[in-house]
Parts: sequence; structure tokens; C-alpha cells
Amino acid sequence: MATANTLEALDQRAIEILRANDKGGYTIPTAGLYPYQWNWDSAFAAFGFGTFDLPRAWAEVETLFKGQWDNGMVPHILFHQVDEGYFPGPDVWGCTGPIPSSGISQPPVAAIFIRKIWEWDKDAGHDHIAALYPKLLNWHRWFMTWRRERALDDAQGPGAICITHPWEAGRDNAPDWDDAMAGITPEGVAPYTRRDTSHVDADMRPTKYDYDRYIWLVQLGRETGWDEAEILAKSPFRVADPTMTFTLLRAHRDLLAMGQSLGQDVTEIESWIPDLEQAASTLWNPELACYDSRNARTGKFAGSVSNASFLCWLGGLNDDRMLAQFDRVMDAVPYGLASYDPESEKFDGRRYWRGPIWAVVNTLIGLGLEEQGHGDRARRLRNSTQDLIAEKGFAEYFDPTDGAPAGGDSFTWTAAVWLAWIRGGKV
Ligand code: GLC
Repeated sequence: MATANTLEALDQRAIEILRANDKGGYTIPTAGLYPYQWNWDSAFAAFGFGTFDLPRAWAEVETLFKGQWDNGMVPHILFHQVDEGYFPGPDVWGCTGPIPSSGISQPPVAAIFIRKIWEWDKDAGHDHIAALYPKLLNWHRWFMTWRRERALDDAQGPGAICITHPWEAGRDNAPDWDDAMAGITPEGVAPYTRRDTSHVDADMRPTKYDYDRYIWLVQLGRETGWDEAEILAKSPFRVADPTMTFTLLRAHRDLLAMGQSLGQDVTEIESWIPDLEQAASTLWNPELACYDSRNARTGKFAGSVSNASFLCWLGGLNDDRMLAQFDRVMDAVPYGLASYDPESEKFDGRRYWRGPIWAVVNTLIGLGLEEQGHGDRARRLRNSTQDLIAEKGFAEYFDPTDGAPAGGDSFTWTAAVWLAWIRGGKV
């Protein structure tokens, strides 16, 4: 247990990390490994900055939306200044948006944190949300248009939200995608040199098998000129994902609240919510008794109890069926909520999204638990995350079996959620 003094010292350290990773209007996740602006990392960074510097919080999300494409898509990476230490860079993606970028998106958590920052000071935030609202609306509309699971049978009703690349879910190498990844034969991948494994141990990163397929999918998107209709028609990889579905459902609710406050016509958003609630319910895998991912090309469930399964509460579903899963996964390892079921043979405590603990996903789960009336579980999750960071530092992720810090260090989003969720706000 950390003392009050230690907690205050950690608050200061978290602020220092955010300041050090600040490149002027945007924040990099960590120096070396991730030298650009990432989409959902920035939304978390804004949440953290909002606890001690509101203008800087607004700047973070406003810079992100400067990269928005004409079709509404907000890219997962903005390459503000080319850095040779990262692969694949802008030349590999070959995109033509307003800022050099990747051609895929990331979980749309921005509206969730924009609303929170606005609520911390509504007068200061009014003009910011007025300017961001139409941009968020266009982005959400892009997901509703281009990322639905085209039901194999229309009678199945509205489709959940899909990813077209594992990086889009923000859970790069989760076992959720294994089946769809196996459907790719990565022929014609141009020779490349990975840069991630020069910053971090290879056993904490995705394998070469995965990387070849990541790059193959980037090449496919590039060949289509990032044309969504063509990608939909051609790509073997399309997976309905709880991360996307639950975060978008939640983000719609926050956008609705902001739209109403701005006196906008919100009928379109109002129609999306019940539609997506119904779609989210199709991710329930009865055999697993859990929300799961599904290969949209075959209709086959992944069989994954992952940390994304527990985002149902954040999405606004008051689903008590997930409580027993939560307790089981929490009890299975000493250090908290693993990103993948520790009792599964696919669990790997150090390898990125196949087991390690991610403080940011814990934050989303904790917020959802609290709102749905499960304060005891929210506290348990928050306390375990607090102890882990206090003991092991502001790492990118942690091994749930021994708490070992893994991946990059001095990590922006870990520092941000320390301030905004674990420590509960204003510093
Ligand atoms: C990794 C993570 C992704 C994150 C990015 C930058 O790719 O999987 O979720 O956005 O790093 O931190």
C-alpha cells in the first residue's frame, strides 16, 4: 500500500511524463517505440491533462481532429514529423489525408473523454465542443456506414462494429483475431525491417507471423487507395469486435448529451443507440457465456474472454451475466485484470494483448462498473491498478502473473489514467 506522500510524488511523476511526451499540441505515447500521435492514446492523454491543464487537454483532441479525412475517418496514427525509428511509416501507408497518417481508425473513445473534460468546466469547454461536435458526428457516422458487420443473413438484424485490421481495435495481437489472421496468406509483402523489437524485447511483442499479415493488410488497403467499399469487398480480414462496438455505443451516448446541450438536431444519434444496442447483443457467445469477437467472414466466434468483453458496462448494458466472468478472471492471477483469460491455453502474460494488464482498458471497465452500480468491483479494479503502478511504475502494460512492467516505460496513457481515474481528477 502506497502512503499519501508516495501517491503525491506519483502524481507529480505522472504530470512530468505528460509534459515530457508533449510535442506541442499533441502527445506521443512514449519516446522511441511510438514517436507519433495515436488516436485513442490522445483521448486518454486529454483526460489526464484535463486534471491540471484544461487548455492543453482541448489542444490534444483538436490536433487529433485536424487529421480527419473527408469521409469522416479519424486515423489511428498522425505522422506529424517523420521518425525513422518507427515502422510502418507514412510511405508504407500511402495515405492522402490532411496530415500524413495511417489508413485505419481506432476505438472511438474521444467523445467519452471530451464530454468529461467539458463537464469539468462547461463555460471554458462550450466553444470547444461546439467546434468538435460536427467532427465527432462525422466520425461516428463513418463507423456506422463502413464498419458494420454485414450480417451473413439480413434477418439477423443490425451488425456489430468490425475492424479491418488488428491495429484498428487497439488490441493488436489479441487471440480474437487468430482465426481471421489464419485466413491471410501474406504473399507479396515487400521486404521490411521491424523497428519495435529494437526498442522492446521480442517476447513482449507480436510475432513475425502476425507482422507479415499486418503489413499485408496495409498493402491491400493502399492498393485500393483506402477505398472502404473495395476493402469490404476484397479483404479476408473483417472481425466484429467488442472494443469497437461497446466504445462506439458509449461514445454515441456522450455525443448525444453534448448535441442536446448545444441545441442540435440529434435524431440521427438517437436512432443509432437502440440499433447498436441490439447489434452489441449479437456479440454474446452463449457457449462461452461472454461477449466475444466474431469473424465476420465466416460467422465463427473467437471464443475469447478478453478485457474488451468487460466493456459492456461502459457501453451502457447492465449485464449481470458478466459479473461472474469478471470475478473469475480477477481471481485467476495475483495482479488484476488480464487482457486475456488466464485459464485459456492462449494466455501469454508478457505478450502484449494476449495476457498483460492494460491500465487504460481497466479505466474504461472501471468507469462502466461504477456507472452500472457495481462500485465494489470498480474499486477492486482501481485499487489493483493503483498498487501495480505505485509498485512497478508507469509502464505500457504489466504481466498479471508477477506484476512485471513490460513494453515501453514513462507511458502517456498510464500516467493520464493515474491522474484522471485512479486519483480521481483535479491535482
Ligand atoms: C500499440 C497498442 C495500441 C496503442 C499504440 C500506441 O499499438 O496496441 O492500442 O494505441 O500502441 O500506444
